[in-house]
Amino acid sequence: MVLKDYVAKTMLKEYLNTFFETYEIPNMFRAQYQMEYDNGLYDTRVVDSQIAQFYKEYDLLKEESDMYKAFVNVIKHNHPNLSDITILDVCGGYIPQLGRELAKEAKHVMVVDRNMVFKNNPNNLEPIQRTIESYTDLPSADLVVGLLPCEATQHIIDYSVMNKKDFVIALCGCWHNLNLDEHIREKMRPMHKSGDTTVTRYEQYAITRLEEAPELGDLIAYDSPYQFPQDVIGNKRR
Ligand SMILES: C[S@@+](CC[C@H](N)C(=O)[O-])C[C@H]1O[C@@H](n2cnc3c(N)ncnc32)[C@H](O)[C@@H]1O
Repeated sequence: MVLKDYVAKTMLKEYLNTFFETYEIPNMFRAQYQMEYDNGLYDTRVVDSQIAQFYKEYDLLKEESDMYKAFVNVIKHNHPNLSDITILDVCGGYIPQLGRELAKEAKHVMVVDRNMVFKNNPNNLEPIQRTIESYTDLPSADLVVGLLPCEATQHIIDYSVMNKKDFVIALCGCWHNLNLDEHIREKMRPMHKSGDTTVTRYEQYAITRLEEAPELGDLIAYDSPYQFPQDVIGNKRR
């Protein structure tokens, strides 16, 4: 059960109605929320991020099921002083719950997503509604993060390497075609052939691209307190 013990189904219905009244939820999301409620899926161990954004809105998640807090803690392993830096959260979601959590500690947080609400965000959170097709679509920040950022995963890695900025990504495990230059493809080929199935293609890609920016150090995988579908990865400066 991911929700706090006092949360009853009737209570959830009221929160859902308030949620729909507060935000202009796109129809496709509305249907997803409704189905989740009707099927009682809130009883499951791991929730979809769209649904987690709703639960987080009303502080309904159990401490150990709050992937936003968990991801902030992972980020802080290597970046303990968030108050000094500007953070860019890529694919931050319709309701930018990670961005809001980061904004409690960071100087300034920018959240980019193609579906985005502008309401009820703290003053130091800048929502940017944009479709990301390349790393050049991303604004400048000290640290770039992504929680299950789907197809933008490659753009975050590219952004980090090209701008020499640190990154932390909770990989989503979605399969998106990597847009690979031939020389990158050639460098990745030996890793691919090694048959090490514990390393995902995004990890292989990040390891390969980090060779171009030695100041960013090596790729590391973080221990995660939440059940993310894949590794949480980032660079660690030497
Ligand atoms: C799995 S959700 C994760 C959302 C959020 N990080 C969370 O965990 O609550 C992926 C998000 O990426 C956004 N997204 C996917 N591809 C995108 C792209 N190319 N440009 C902008 N946003 C994108 C979607 O709108 C969606 O909100």
